[in-house]
Amino acid sequence: MPQTYETLLVERRERVAIITINRPDKRNALNIKTREEGAAALEELRADDSVRVVVITGAGDKAFIAGADIAEFAGRTAVTQRDVMTGQSLFTAIDSFPKPVIAMVNGYCLGGGCELAMACDLRIASERASFGQPEINLGIIPGGGGTQRLTHLVGEGKAMELILTGEIINAQAAHAIGLVNMVVLHEELEAKTMELANRIAEKSPIALRLAKEAVKTAARSSLDEGLRREIDLFALCFSSEDKDEGVKAFLEKRKPEFKGQ
Ligand code: COA
Repeated sequence: MPQTYETLLVERRERVAIITINRPDKRNALNIKTREEGAAALEELRADDSVRVVVITGAGDKAFIAGADIAEFAGRTAVTQRDVMTGQSLFTAIDSFPKPVIAMVNGYCLGGGCELAMACDLRIASERASFGQPEINLGIIPGGGGTQRLTHLVGEGKAMELILTGEIINAQAAHAIGLVNMVVLHEELEAKTMELANRIAEKSPIALRLAKEAVKTAARSSLDEGLRREIDLFALCFSSEDKDEGVKAFLEKRKPEFKGQ
């Protein structure tokens, strides 16, 4: 039975689930409730075998997510803030989610919004989207993985520039530095994202999961460790029925029908 949430909408379209952060009046800023509900929605979708790919977006036509809810920062102690960040982290839940997660970036993608998008596996941006880590303007630094994931994605030089200046860049500039995978016309954002999501959703869910894990390992280990891990994960594919189906379908010159087994 699908759950309902106060700050999000969860919709299933065949094999793709779409989570929409639904606080357009606050530019979809991430408050504690949204973070908790986001993690809960992912738990729900993790257990649903009919869902093969998850898309995350923001409600309204202005923002993907304009960052952490700044109103919640006022008067907050260091200990409380640390608990918020280290508790059930939405970013970690996305990062370790066993299915591909795509950020469909429809507008402002700032601070925690940019961090959330970077925790996703792929980012598709509307030409109207803008990106940045403006925390420095509040006298703080990114705390949801921004200093690490941005550096991995775009390199130290560009990450340093964005984080030290708090500069906001447009979608084309984000694409040029490798922060987003593709930029599309605003009116085509949903169609192009769903096209990509559906294309990925046809693959073996087991292979997708292992591929995601293998790629994530690259940023977190030495090359030697990563190569060893890749061999283990590659070998694990050989225990799946999906691998038998994929190979058989190729030899029979037909499209494979992956069951996730
Ligand atoms: N946290 C809390 N509230 C936020 C918010 C955030 N990160 N971003 C926007 N809002 C709220 C505004 O306070 C305003 O609320 P109000 O109507 O109750 O006054 C509402 O969303 C609309 O914001 P507004 O600034 O009027 O919209 P805009 O379209 O002119 O500008 C932004 C949008 C995103 C450029 C601007 O809101 C902004 O700079 N937000 C903060 C971005 C940021 O620093 N993020 C990092 C946080 S660590």
